[in-house]
Amino acid sequence: MKIAVIQGPNLNMLGVREQHIYGPMTLEQIHEQMKASAQQNNVELEFFQSNLEGEIVDRIQESLGEVDGIIINPAAYSHTSIAIKDALSAVNLPVVEVHISNIYKREEFRQKSVTAGASTGVISGFGPFGYHLALISLMQIISEVKAVQEANDASEQ
Ligand code: DQA
Repeated sequence: MKIAVIQGPNLNMLGVREQHIYGPMTLEQIHEQMKASAQQNNVELEFFQSNLEGEIVDRIQESLGEVDGIIINPAAYSHTSIAIKDALSAVNLPVVEVHISNIYKREEFRQKSVTAGASTGVISGFGPFGYHLALISLMQIISEVKAVQEANDASEQ
């Protein structure tokens, strides 16, 4: 099983930016923790971070046929990007959207995620642990999707 982990703008600044909101962990440390639990479950992770909307759209498109699911924190683009939402809908893969902070108790402009409408589920407010929750949830969802596909294939034969 292969999962793409896509990180949006300013998440490369974790550990430095607004620690009272996002905590002290760096993005690299978060990815190391994810790698450890992925390895235990025989899952391969592909990490990508960009501050540019179009690069994120490209990366989502490239996921088609390459990975079984996507974990994405579109960061500020969550609140604005129809392009990222459309790309997620286009590839039609299981998607878990993560927010480190609880966007629903922050400024009004953060309380709506445009991209979440193209996600299977959203995890918000659990800090970096949210990425771990996303990984566990997505592994479960992908396994269920594969089991249904196999059952369908078997019944067609
Ligand atoms: C964020 C929340 C967004 O509103 C913000 O722009 C981010 C990070 C989060 O992980 O809590 O950059 O997505």
